[in-house]
Amino acid sequence: MGFLLSELTSFATVLLFGLCCFSFSSTDAYDPLDPNGNITIKWDIISWTPDGYVAVVTIYNYQQYRHIQAPGWSLGWTWAKKEVIWDMVGGQATEQGDCSRFKTTPPHCCKKKPTIIDLLPGTPYNKQYSNCCKGGVLSSWMQDPANAAASFQLSVGQAGTSNRTVKHPKNFTLMGPGPGYTCGAARVVKPTKYFSPDKRRVSQVMMTWKLTCTYSQFLAQKTPACCVSLSSFYNDTVVPCPICSCGCQNNITHPGSCVDPKSPYLASVVSAAEKNSPLVRCTRHMCPIRVHWHVKLNYREYWRVKVTVTNFDYSRNYSDWNLVIQHPNFDNLTQVFSFNSKSLTPYGTINDTAMLWGIKFYNDLLMQSGPVGNVQSELLFRKNPATFTFEKGWAFPRRISFNGDTCVMPPPDAFPYLPNAGSRQYISLLTLIMICASTFAFTYAYA
Ligand SMILES: *[C@@H]1O[C@H](CO)[C@@H](O)[C@H](O)[C@H]1NC(C)=O
Ligand SMILES: *[C@@H]1O[C@H](CO)[C@@H](O)[C@H](O)[C@H]1NC(C)=O
Ligand SMILES: *[C@@H]1O[C@H](CO)[C@@H](O)[C@H](O)[C@H]1NC(C)=O
Ligand SMILES: *[C@@H]1O[C@H](CO)[C@@H](O)[C@H](O)[C@H]1NC(C)=O
Ligand SMILES: *[C@@H]1O[C@H](CO)[C@@H](O)[C@H](O)[C@H]1NC(C)=O
Ligand SMILES: *[C@@H]1O[C@H](CO)[C@@H](O)[C@H](O)[C@H]1NC(C)=O
Ligand SMILES: *[C@@H]1O[C@H](CO)[C@@H](O)[C@H](O)[C@H]1NC(C)=O
Ligand SMILES: *[C@@H]1O[C@H](CO)[C@@H](O)[C@H](O)[C@H]1NC(C)=O
Repeated sequence: MGFLLSELTSFATVLLFGLCCFSFSSTDAYDPLDPNGNITIKWDIISWTPDGYVAVVTIYNYQQYRHIQAPGWSLGWTWAKKEVIWDMVGGQATEQGDCSRFKTTPPHCCKKKPTIIDLLPGTPYNKQYSNCCKGGVLSSWMQDPANAAASFQLSVGQAGTSNRTVKHPKNFTLMGPGPGYTCGAARVVKPTKYFSPDKRRVSQVMMTWKLTCTYSQFLAQKTPACCVSLSSFYNDTVVPCPICSCGCQNNITHPGSCVDPKSPYLASVVSAAEKNSPLVRCTRHMCPIRVHWHVKLNYREYWRVKVTVTNFDYSRNYSDWNLVIQHPNFDNLTQVFSFNSKSLTPYGTINDTAMLWGIKFYNDLLMQSGPVGNVQSELLFRKNPATFTFEKGWAFPRRISFNGDTCVMPPPDAFPYLPNAGSRQYISLLTLIMICASTFAFTYAYA
């Protein structure tokens, strides 16, 4: 009977946590932690030309914690008429397409559905445009708003030459770098106004179109890329990442799908690997990223946690990485050592989520797998006596994501627990049920 009871309790806990997790990892585009998160694309026509116009296209990443990492964004659309791109600065079309109908200098791109990418750092000045040439990398709005936008200029031919004859492109697509974004239709909005450099005169562009793209984890259909392990000062058990969190080691169908760190050929395998194609260390979880949460110290009014992020990927440095962590004590986060932090739900009734990221030039770059392939920080929380407890895994995070991707957590019934806490809970529960049962029996017998 005891066995059954403990099974039942753990089942109920799993069910409860499962429900919690479900409500937070809903698959539609709406993200409760970033309800207005979107990427806005603004298309300013700055002048008319004899056969079209010159436009500046700006991509703003208004997402709080989702950034666009290498190899960067690519933006596509379908022209409404027979437009061509004569020239571009600050970006380039990936393909020129068939320009054979042009007898003189051919245009930059003649495709009906062009795809535009950013230029690389170090592009010659005459090909640059402000905010360009970052290899398509965009920071998140919270981390670095100054680097969260990209722009390029293009001169379009065979287009309309006035605000009545010009047509905006259709079917915008944005890759960031993989799938996941859905873009709405472009709309005509009020023309953008801008100041002259001395701020004494306001000018405005000829015409402005705007559209927004939103991210959906469901569309991205990514396999998990990160997992969580847990430990505490009050229990020796280190709860590892769940086995096969991000994939399984499979020597039969995918020999060499991961790298053994003890392999004598490690250096040559790593140097031969292509950048940005994963080359993950062989582990039971097979994740490129592991986040470890260690409950480190217990003071009278405070408690302290150590967070370590480890990179298991030999082929990739994560620049401008970020973590989003949910724990009920984030409403009283007192200090974060060696990371930046900001509350993601600072005005909500439930203020339980914070975003953490590295300090510029110190630990904003999470290096490839190896002795320096990790970053760590300590968090100091002030206890709220009404809610604080080490029991039932309360001190462990409810949810963690790395660069916007949800990390796989160990099941709640595996969390390290306080010595004896489990049996105490079991006894009180057992007593409770005994009382209930005897009351029931009593009522039944004497009814
Ligand atoms: C996109 O984000 C910006 C900035 O947060 C916000 O002002 C705008 O309303 C958002 N647009 C949509 C369609 O959500
Ligand atoms: C086009 O320009 C005219 C005159 O400047 C203006 O009245 C009209 O509202 C503009 N139309 C659009 C769609 O911007
Ligand atoms: C835009 O996409 C929709 C749906 O994919 C398609 O039906 C439509 O024909 C496309 N329009 C253009 C101009 O390509
Ligand atoms: C794959 O190979 C490694 C090392 O050779 C071994 O430790 C591991 O158990 C193997 N995994 C499977 C699923 O066979
Ligand atoms: C990671 O960064 C370090 C230092 O900037 C560099 O030496 C190394 O080649 C980079 N690794 C990859 C895989 O890009
Ligand atoms: C939410 O948490 C942050 C960080 O601890 C704190 O600065 C802020 O005051 C809190 N807001 C509310 C409404 O409790
Ligand atoms: C944060 O800590 C202060 C001081 O202990 C306490 O008064 C307050 O209720 C706590 N805030 C929350 C939201 O628990
Ligand atoms: C530590 O926690 C684990 C559950 O993860 C449990 O099995 C173990 O009994 C605990 N250790 C002690 C000393 O209570």
